[in-house]
Amino acid sequence: MSNILCIGAGYVGGPTMAIIAKNCPEHRITVVDINQERIDRWNSNDLPIYEPGLLEVVQQARGRNLFFHTDVAQATTDADIIFVSVNTPTKMFGEGAGKAADLQFWEKTARDILDNCRKPNVIVVEKSTLPVRTAEAMARILESGKSSTKFSVVSNPEFLAEGTAIEDLTTPDRVLIGGGQNETGRKAAETVAELYAHWVPRERILLTNVWSSELSKLVANAMLAQRISSVNSISALCERTEADIAEVSKAIGMDTRIGSKFLEASIGFGGSCFRKDILHLSYLCEYYGLPEVADYWASVVHINEWQTDRFFQSILHQLFNTLAGKAIALLGFAFKQDTGDTRDSPAIPLCEKLLGEHAKVRVHDPKALENARIDLKDMQGDVRFVEDVYEALDGAHAIALVTQWAEYRELDFERIYNKMVKPAFIFDGRNHLEHEKLFEIGFNVFPLGKPPLKHV
Ligand code: NAD
Ligand code: UDX
Repeated sequence: MSNILCIGAGYVGGPTMAIIAKNCPEHRITVVDINQERIDRWNSNDLPIYEPGLLEVVQQARGRNLFFHTDVAQATTDADIIFVSVNTPTKMFGEGAGKAADLQFWEKTARDILDNCRKPNVIVVEKSTLPVRTAEAMARILESGKSSTKFSVVSNPEFLAEGTAIEDLTTPDRVLIGGGQNETGRKAAETVAELYAHWVPRERILLTNVWSSELSKLVANAMLAQRISSVNSISALCERTEADIAEVSKAIGMDTRIGSKFLEASIGFGGSCFRKDILHLSYLCEYYGLPEVADYWASVVHINEWQTDRFFQSILHQLFNTLAGKAIALLGFAFKQDTGDTRDSPAIPLCEKLLGEHAKVRVHDPKALENARIDLKDMQGDVRFVEDVYEALDGAHAIALVTQWAEYRELDFERIYNKMVKPAFIFDGRNHLEHEKLFEIGFNVFPLGKPPLKHV
């Protein structure tokens, strides 16, 4: 039996440890965080994050071999394996501001580990997404004190996506573990692999060197985001040429060399990872003297911002170039369906632009209103957060669909149309609704990358 500790009880730490606890009942798993409110919610049935299936898994293991608390120092004392899953946001000050990774939370954790570890051999697992060669910095900090503990640093980046975290953790495409190339490094990586082998087939556990593992995580996110920016750029060309982006995506996605996933045109990708990780990758290239490569990846982020702006421009233009005093209802605020997470959601810049035009913004989301309120709290203007979707749409001039919640396809659009100001507009930022049906009801429909359906 090992004592497994995870520092950072967020979107990654919580679900990942719950799945390890479920599948490894002989190990004791503790998750710690400096945020007391978050920990209190992990200990309740009102979890701090919404993730389908998560509560059931937590309830199975919590109090048995899964524990949540805030005493980082005490929990570190007798830990054998320490997963570090703290946030690694974009640095907003000094050198590399707006691009580089802010590693202050990461370094604080390294020092906490050094100060408190008492076991003779401890494996430190990088779970957070980090710039390549961060393990070197971690090892140097851990070797800088007088600790008698022998530390091994292993990289084990997480590939779960929000909204499907439990599924992704239960049947991952692969588990990536990067270890040092000496005997101790190999042993440490194997110990981590043994944990996953409780439920992941061995052939899906990929062992590499530490640097490949760290870099692969940034590159996986950059490649996924690049597909979305590519398809979003083509959505604009489709709108000029009467090609249909859904047909183009299907046609190219059936080429097995391309594959069908991540080719859905959207208002822009969001989430806490893509923008941040691509900017980190771009900054690393700059740092290593590769400005052309840095520019290449930065352009993926640039197209994403452009796509969200394009969506806003279309609303402004179609509503006769004036939004002042008009009610625009947002269907969805989360960066994707099945999560309450709004970090880097395209809804945020969209609201900012709409409020800048003095529109009245009405926000609906089934799970993200709590976060939406925080995101928009400093913005000036008329914004309301409405729990009842029909109330949000009552008296609206236009609907902007931001998030593809399944329930939005089931709405009674006849009822909605009757309560809206005419002409009534729908801007579908996810091509999620049934456009022909909406057009027949009377809406002017503006999909992405397809010809609009207009009555006027
Ligand atoms: P998060 O912000 O939800 O959680 C991080 C937690 O760490 C916070 O609760 C914070 O209070 C805590 N923390 C910070 N400093 C601490 C310290 N010194 N001691 C104890 N706790 C501390 O972040 P997240 O979304 O879980 O992401 C964590 C890491 O995983 C990031 O590097 C991210 O890039 C990566 N990642 C995220 C996802 C995702 O979908 N969210 C997926 C894969 C990888
Ligand atoms: C991402 C990575 O997928 C995951 O592997 C990584 O570990 C963390 O970052 P996440 O941000 O949770 O996960 O969600 P993801 O499903 O990747 O979606 C990211 C954004 O891209 C969302 O805003 C989504 O709506 C958008 N998207 C996705 C598109 O716009 N079009 C697509 O075809 C797919």
